Amino acid sequence: VSPSSSIVVLDSGLGGLTVVRALQAALPQEHVLYFGDTARVPWGNKSPANVCAFVRQIIAYLRPHDPKHVLLACNTATALALSVVRGDFPGLSISGVIEPGARAAIEAAGAKAEPVIGVIATEATVRSKAYERAIHRRRHYARLLLRPTPLLVPIIEEGRTAEDPLVRLALRQYLRPLLERHIDVLVLGCTHYPMLKGLIAHMVGGRVRVIDSAEQCAEDVAKRLRAAGLMRAAGDGQSSERLRCFVTDDSARFGLLASRFLQRTVDAPTLVPLDDLTRAGDAVRPMRRAG
Ligand code: DGL
Repeated sequence: VSPSSSIVVLDSGLGGLTVVRALQAALPQEHVLYFGDTARVPWGNKSPANVCAFVRQIIAYLRPHDPKHVLLACNTATALALSVVRGDFPGLSISGVIEPGARAAIEAAGAKAEPVIGVIATEATVRSKAYERAIHRRRHYARLLLRPTPLLVPIIEEGRTAEDPLVRLALRQYLRPLLERHIDVLVLGCTHYPMLKGLIAHMVGGRVRVIDSAEQCAEDVAKRLRAAGLMRAAGDGQSSERLRCFVTDDSARFGLLASRFLQRTVDAPTLVPLDDLTRAGDAVRPMRRAG
């Protein structure tokens, strides 16, 4: 590993691009390898064992690129798989999005003694209680309301935007119980949701602070690279190499939606067959499948 190595960013689909955008704004000289597991999205309704296997396979597949850091740009993966894959890849620096998100939520709650913090996330993230742990460790008296919002990831992956009536209907239903309980802060506990941040902020009104952890995540990665002496020097490398994408299905749609979201042309992603991923994962834990 050297300062010129890439950063791997992974998610079940498009959502992690919200973190890539913040990462590239904070660290414009860095090169990112982005993996979206579009054949198996959504992850948020899958079992912990499957999500761990998916994340392990993706890291194993990209390992030959010798990344200097791996960011799980997915709350579901962070909640279910971060500690497991850290054990699987002991020499590799791996981080997630929940700690930076919890930090941002507490900062937004300000001095209020018992802030009411709402979190919308996938079913798996809510069930894991990872946000409760991360927030209560920092602010014992925060009141937390977690709400699974399972339709949002498929809706966003389909390319539906804030103007779509279906998106508005789903959000209205999901947000109503949180608004009735007068939340002070709303955490977007899934990296897909910032794609609808403007609409969500409008729906909850100006009194509620809406938190997406992308910027905190970018800062967190920058801090880790600085501490390890692995920051890439400015002007090192071609700008066209800054983002390379890998997907497991429908690369044309991904390219289109990724370009729309990042507001620049994204090179056609590399299509990775699921068999290749399975093989890479099996090489990490050969006993797993046998048992
Ligand atoms: N972006 C992922 C997250 O942050 C979505 C998971 C899913 O595919 O359901 O949780």
